[in-house]
Amino acid sequence: MRGLWTSEDLSKATGVQMASGIVAGGVSIDTRSLNEGDLFIALRGENMDGHEFARQAEEKKAAAILADHPIPGVSLPQIVVSDTFQALRNLASFAVSRSLAKRIAVTGSVGKTGTKEMLALALSAQAPVHATQGNLNNHYGLPLTLARMPQDAAYAVLEMGMNHAGEITPLSELAKPQVAVVTTVEPVHIEFFPTLSAIAEAKAEIFKGMSAGGIAVLNRDNPFFGLLARRAREHGARVISFGGHIESEFRLLHSEIVGASTEVLALAGEKPLAYRIGVPGHHWAVNSLAVLAALHAVGADTAKGAQSLQAMTPPKGRGARREIEIAQGKTFELIDESYNASPASMKAAIVTLAQIRLQGKGRRIAVLGDMLELGTQGPALHRGLKTVLEEAGIDRVYTAGPLMEGLFEELPQPMRAGHAANSAELAPLVAAHVQAGDIVMVKGSAGSRMGRVVEALERPKGVQAQAANGH
Ligand SMILES: Nc1ncnc2c1ncn2[C@@H]1O[C@H](COP(=O)(O)OP(=O)(O)O)[C@@H](O)[C@H]1O
Ligand SMILES: [Mg+2]
Repeated sequence: MRGLWTSEDLSKATGVQMASGIVAGGVSIDTRSLNEGDLFIALRGENMDGHEFARQAEEKKAAAILADHPIPGVSLPQIVVSDTFQALRNLASFAVSRSLAKRIAVTGSVGKTGTKEMLALALSAQAPVHATQGNLNNHYGLPLTLARMPQDAAYAVLEMGMNHAGEITPLSELAKPQVAVVTTVEPVHIEFFPTLSAIAEAKAEIFKGMSAGGIAVLNRDNPFFGLLARRAREHGARVISFGGHIESEFRLLHSEIVGASTEVLALAGEKPLAYRIGVPGHHWAVNSLAVLAALHAVGADTAKGAQSLQAMTPPKGRGARREIEIAQGKTFELIDESYNASPASMKAAIVTLAQIRLQGKGRRIAVLGDMLELGTQGPALHRGLKTVLEEAGIDRVYTAGPLMEGLFEELPQPMRAGHAANSAELAPLVAAHVQAGDIVMVKGSAGSRMGRVVEALERPKGVQAQAANGH
């Protein structure tokens, strides 16, 4: 990343004159993760003002600071603009205009990060790739990601997220993607939307920054395929579809969990492809078809890309599996899905749990925390998981939180393993009852903090027993 931003380019991007000789190797908006040589941009947030961290930026040897007023007592080169957030966006815009990278934007109700990671993995075996780090997908994260884009990137994979209508438009207009992927439209973050089609329209904003000749990669199985395809075409884009639907151009024929991986049989146009993804779950197979379609859209090698997916590992809290020893030579399996949850991803995780082969007398155990941001539909969507759990043949269900309590009360007696007000209280209960051979899947919205159950289960059994006894 050496020489990412020089005084000359910073001047052109911000329209501000500055001393020559600034060379920044990276860009940071948070001094906790700032690297030596980064340009530090002081943003004014709701709770924090980045200007207050100018000293820290200096201590950590930032290359320069971009601020909205001169900061006394800081000896770093200072670039003073009227609005630092706008300046960040200007850097992003400049980075796009000076780059030859083909840009792929990824949005959707679920599967953005996983799809983005698979795309970045598959492309990086073929050319230099720049991708969104973690979940940096909002009005700060996206411009920051673009401002960090090295000039030699051949591809950029950009995650775009939203909670409200109108949020994707500025992201798309900044990134000007040549390819836009919409993974799915589902009831997620529905609190601020009147209907599901309003969510689909908000996803369709991703086409707004595309110029004619762009390509939209769309899920043929989703009820909003038609709406999204129409919107994409209105912006001059061509549509490539993926999914199980017989008319999908990138078509999933079969997927099967084998060990910790998913084996996939697909048709890319006329061409059959067999490959393996290093993460278990049918939903990963579906998303991988979006990946192959996007590879095709940017002119990359799809067959080679498919083979790359074997090296995929689950992003944190999204399906990582661990064997945990509870006694000499006796283990149970823990599936950590604690990063997030929505009705669609809950269902995907429960179905995956059902498909994993059991050892001996083990049981399939689901440990579920509240799904948040569902507004007035929340209670019904929680109770609706009953059928999913029953059809999947889950043996035991633990729940935490007021919304999950509604589901717990609906469950038939043999499935009811335990309920607690929150994950901290539930954790020792689960830890005390897990047995050798069990498979335990833990999932809930980030705000439900189901990670606490995961941590409790990861502790050796002796410590778990103590925790359960309240010592
Ligand atoms: N196609 C899909 N259908 C249902 N659930 C999915 C799908 N893709 C991913 N998921 C699940 O959704 C959750 C969020 O996944 P992630 O990749 O982080 O998406 P996002 O970035 O959109 O939040 C995870 O639990 C993941 O397993
Ligand atoms: Mg994400």
